[in-house]
Amino acid sequence: MINSSSLTVLSHPLIQHKLTVLRNKHTSTSQFRQLLHETAMLMTYEVTRDLPTSIVEIETPMESMQATCIDGKKLVFVSILRAGNGFLDGMLEVVPNARVGHIGLYRDHVTLEAVEYYFKMPEGMHERDVIVVDPMLATGNSAIAAIDRLKALKPRSIKFMCLLTCPTGVSALQTAHPDVAIFTASVDRQLNQLGYILPGLGDAGDRMYGTK
Ligand code: URA
Repeated sequence: MINSSSLTVLSHPLIQHKLTVLRNKHTSTSQFRQLLHETAMLMTYEVTRDLPTSIVEIETPMESMQATCIDGKKLVFVSILRAGNGFLDGMLEVVPNARVGHIGLYRDHVTLEAVEYYFKMPEGMHERDVIVVDPMLATGNSAIAAIDRLKALKPRSIKFMCLLTCPTGVSALQTAHPDVAIFTASVDRQLNQLGYILPGLGDAGDRMYGTK
């Protein structure tokens, strides 16, 4: 069962058009990487829409004024390796001074459970807002394991951003972490027995790095 109050489907035509080209099996590796980069920029714009802001005093060449800036410590983008890295550059283009954390998890191909092999976060996580990224929210196991680990560091907030998901992934993540808002470009029909999203786009890591 999906709770629509913590799920945002980003229906902007530019995002949806780029997603269609990403899904197409005839799209080349270099086009795929470029489109993922562009889509990540557009999605980051939407996901950061409610960032807290504060007012600072600045001087324009004409006079002083009270102006808006983003409040608090620098945002942290946490990439779930390896596919999450395909989103990072686009996100950093929009928020260049964000900090970056990495979580290495692989999917056991038999149990589909997430197994951790790497974890590196910036200092001061308890004062930071975190956006966790993985292009594919499939079973939800990796996202849940990543967020379990991050919550131990008590960040100020956590959001999850993916390109594609399916009802199984959304409901697993919402059940484990109901406080984490999910942003996606599409909720696809279903998972297959191997844990791939249908219709999906195939293996995101393989498609961005040309490893298959
Ligand atoms: N990971 C992928 O790369 N693709 C899927 O469809 C599911 C998980």
